[in-house]
Amino acid sequence: MQNALAHEYRRLCRDPSTQQPLAYLRLRRAIRSIVEHRDIEPGQALPSERDLSQALGLSRVTVRKAIAGLVEEGLLNQRHGAGTFVAERIVKPMSRLTSFTEDLRARGLNPRSEFFERSLGEVSPEEAMALNLSPGAPVVRLHRLRYAGDEPLAMERSVVPASFLPDPMLVRDSLYEALEQRGYRPSRALQRLRAVPMSTQNARLLHVPAGSAGLSIERRAFLADGRVVEFTSSWYRGDIYDFVAELHTE
Ligand code: GLP
Repeated sequence: MQNALAHEYRRLCRDPSTQQPLAYLRLRRAIRSIVEHRDIEPGQALPSERDLSQALGLSRVTVRKAIAGLVEEGLLNQRHGAGTFVAERIVKPMSRLTSFTEDLRARGLNPRSEFFERSLGEVSPEEAMALNLSPGAPVVRLHRLRYAGDEPLAMERSVVPASFLPDPMLVRDSLYEALEQRGYRPSRALQRLRAVPMSTQNARLLHVPAGSAGLSIERRAFLADGRVVEFTSSWYRGDIYDFVAELHTE
């Protein structure tokens, strides 16, 4: 892998079309490229800073700067004392109706949310259509930035009829936990998935470049009796989330 990296780095140095005079940006690009081409696998360690600087004839400051940017992007992780690793993608099976919190905990990650909105209001015309509510019905709205530890993964806007969740403050870490406690855990959902370029605002909050690949997911979740309990729009980072579906012949 070190050879693949050295090869890619030298190729970028020779290639005038990349127009990248700064060594740390060239190295960043070379690392990104070997990760994309699977010359290094998720979870695998990168050579040490010292080995990289020797192999590529770069200063350690340059190597450190290149790596720091990729850590910030979420492509690499640094574990104290252990080194730098290619970040693992989060694989989400599509056929199970699980919550963000459950998905992350199942992978040993620490789910966390930053709330931008947690309010009670009157249903909008669009929400009324999605939730099968009459005009004027009260709803709880949540707008959350969802993290794995310190890494932002998704933006999420949820609307829930207040008949199932009368107080938005009942949602602490998990919406599904709050619903479950009141006996309204969804049992079925319809979900739509689309590829979208990240908007400037979401990109900034999710620490990815504006216009980079994102996944837009809309979920309408139902109770066993058919009532709609949730309508959520989410924007997931395309660079770390994989949705996997199992297909059967019948
Ligand atoms: C996922 C779904 C959302 C759902 C959420 C609940 O992110 N896309 O539709 O509302 O999980 O997660 P939690 O219970 O952690 O709030």
